[in-house]
Amino acid sequence: MATTTKPQKNPVMKAEPAALRVPAAAKINLYLHVTGLRDDGYHTLESLVAFAGIHDTLTLAPAPDLTLTVTGPFADGLGADEDNLVMMAADRLRRAADIDVGCAIGLEKYLPVAAGIGGGSADAAAVLGGLVRLWEINPAALDLNDLGLTLGADVPVCLFGEAAYVGGIGEKVTRAPMLPAAWLVLINPGVTLSTPAVFKARQKINQERGSGTDRFEESPATAAMLAEYLHTRNNDLTDDAIGLQPVIGDVLDSLHGSEEILLARMSGSGATCFGLYAEADGAALAAAELSQRHPEWWVRATPLLSDARTLAV
Ligand code: C5P
Repeated sequence: MATTTKPQKNPVMKAEPAALRVPAAAKINLYLHVTGLRDDGYHTLESLVAFAGIHDTLTLAPAPDLTLTVTGPFADGLGADEDNLVMMAADRLRRAADIDVGCAIGLEKYLPVAAGIGGGSADAAAVLGGLVRLWEINPAALDLNDLGLTLGADVPVCLFGEAAYVGGIGEKVTRAPMLPAAWLVLINPGVTLSTPAVFKARQKINQERGSGTDRFEESPATAAMLAEYLHTRNNDLTDDAIGLQPVIGDVLDSLHGSEEILLARMSGSGATCFGLYAEADGAALAAAELSQRHPEWWVRATPLLSDARTLAV
């Protein structure tokens, strides 16, 4: 029997997807061990990565072509051409998923550039995650982690978005237990450090500490317990980074001198360092004092996050 379809009085038009705003949180290496050197020149790592409340913000709006506009206090340190990691991420995803539309990307840059807190990788991961939604790509149809790794070693953990143990050259990402409530003071002394230069300067490879056998399996109940655990670890790139930019040593000394500090350490390949505090007030006070003493430094108090995806913009 033939069926007829009743014409709809008010056909529902498929709405044009609205622009998305996506945060790209700073990543913090709570510790970082260099465990080996591969034949291709990349170093194997063992790191505990978490995130901070401070972030760049990306806006993704449907458009026929791929374009990028960079604004914000650190826009000057960054070109908006196809060398920008954000454009590379969008272009590689578009090719991999065979997409024939574009996107007008806006990047508000609040994180210092080439600073060891994953700004470029965080931006690239945020663009990949956002464009999968905007372009309605089936996430099961491609391996975003593999694609992310071609852009930078920190992109997989930034895509993961939760506190994680990271191994390999950055691609082995394992969820870490929830971290306790804690606060950070981030300081960047206004010098850039190239990651390859720091790794190149690296002389000693610490094989023993990379076993991962003493990863904690239960959440530390307090910030002080987290700090106690972290004191048994280190950032193996610190001395090499200080060799290239001695001011990093001054930043660490200044953080150590602040009241209520639980731990002071460099993140990634530097130059940004973080202080860990139990209370928001302690972090705010330290940030106020240190930025008064060093107005030329970028100093921010911000919460430590176990889950960067809780950030709203
Ligand atoms: O991938 P990403 O851009 O973060 O790395 C920049 C450079 O840092 C690499 O080309 C490599 O020289 C060095 N690197 C390394 N081992 C890693 C990550 C980065 O040697 N695990």
